[in-house]
Amino acid sequence: MTVKKLITVPDEILRKSSQPIEKVSDNEKKLINDLFETMYHHKGIGLASIQIGIPKRIIVLDVSQKDEIKKPLCFINPAIKNISKEKSKYEEGCLSIPNTFIEIERPKTCIVEYIDIDGKKKQIECEGLLSTCIQHEINHLDGKLIIDFLSKLKKDLIIKKLSKTKQNPDRIVV
Ligand code: NI
Repeated sequence: MTVKKLITVPDEILRKSSQPIEKVSDNEKKLINDLFETMYHHKGIGLASIQIGIPKRIIVLDVSQKDEIKKPLCFINPAIKNISKEKSKYEEGCLSIPNTFIEIERPKTCIVEYIDIDGKKKQIECEGLLSTCIQHEINHLDGKLIIDFLSKLKKDLIIKKLSKTKQNPDRIVV
C-alpha cells in the first residue's frame, strides 16, 4: 500500500470523466488499497480514484466516527438509482481543494448500485453523511467539484487563490 500524491485544483485532470471498470483485477485491488491508504493518511472520509490521477470509476469512503472502529467502504462503478426529495445540508470540504468549505444541500437519502471488490453487483441505501459523501465522490467521477455549486464569481476567486499557492516555488533558507 502506498500513500499517493493528491491532485488539487486547478489541475484539469480533476475535470476528466472516469472510465467504468470491466473486471476487478489485481491492478484494481492494488489501486483500492492505495486509495484507502491515501484517504486515511490525509484524514479524509472519502476519495475518488481520479484524485490520485487515475480516471477509473472507483471510490472509497469511511464515515465512521473518531471513536468507532474503522469502516472502510469501496464502490466500483457506483451509480445513483434513486434520490429522496428531502434534502440535508453539510459544510463540505474536498482533499483536492485545500482549506475550502462550502455548504451544499443534497438529497438526504439515495440508493446506489455498484460492484464490490469481488466483482459482485450490489445496492446500498445511503442516508445522512453517507448519502452526502457518496454523492460528492460520484460527482468526482464525472469531473464535478464542490466549487461548481458556487456562483461563477466565488468559484473563480477560489481557483485564483489556489492557483497562486501552487505557483509559489518552495521556500528555502540557506
Ligand atoms: Ni472531494
